[in-house]
Amino acid sequence: MKNLIAGNWKLKGSPDLADSYISHLSKTKPDNCTVVVCPTFDLLEYICDKWSSEFGHLGAQDCFHEDTNYNDGLRTPDEIVSKGTSYIILGHSDRRNKCHETSELVRKKVDLVWDKGLIPIVCVGEKSDERKQNLTQKIVNKQITESLDFDNLRGPFVIAYEPVWAIGSGNTPTMEEIGEVHDEIRKLLVDLTCPTRGHNIPLLYGGSADDQNAGSILSVENVNGLLIGGASLNIQKFGAIIECA
Ligand code: 13P
Repeated sequence: MKNLIAGNWKLKGSPDLADSYISHLSKTKPDNCTVVVCPTFDLLEYICDKWSSEFGHLGAQDCFHEDTNYNDGLRTPDEIVSKGTSYIILGHSDRRNKCHETSELVRKKVDLVWDKGLIPIVCVGEKSDERKQNLTQKIVNKQITESLDFDNLRGPFVIAYEPVWAIGSGNTPTMEEIGEVHDEIRKLLVDLTCPTRGHNIPLLYGGSADDQNAGSILSVENVNGLLIGGASLNIQKFGAIIECA
């Protein structure tokens, strides 16, 4: 499968950054990998008019878990789809840990966005103390099992393994550690689905991935792409990561 390189701008980014992406991607038109760019909703509105499918895909960050406009502040999947998105990041550690979002809520969102034709990028990952207690795989497997309804998978999905302690810290697990977790996730997905499906679910790594370490991480077996935060705020770095893929 092609690598998937996703940029999560979080609450950063600007019209200038969006313009730098448009300018770079219109020259490079990457087809070696699947590119997904996830700006804030406001910037999605800005970028979607200038976006071409030759650049890759647009994605969103999170959404409200009900199909109604009667909510305060959160965007509905319909609003997100209206901006030309095809992917959405759900269950990011910022939501799980800072907003106390449970896997049950993530699952509701996954079901809802499937109905709207979006592909969820479901994030999972252990905290530092959980890692120290050797609970990484237990936590990751539990989050995956509970964030998706494996008895009724109604659409495609992507899993992003993002150790919470690696996000924005400049630290990453070793390549062996990333490989071990991804191998176990692959086994779990094969068990929960079937070999054909389980082997074709893209598994991304995220957490201080950048243009310097992308090549090494992407060469680890069962890593099928990257979810990039900080380094996606610089098109030169993000462009270099796309080239690595
Ligand atoms: P950093 O690449 O800044 O560590 O962020 C990773 C992330 O949280 C992407 O969703």
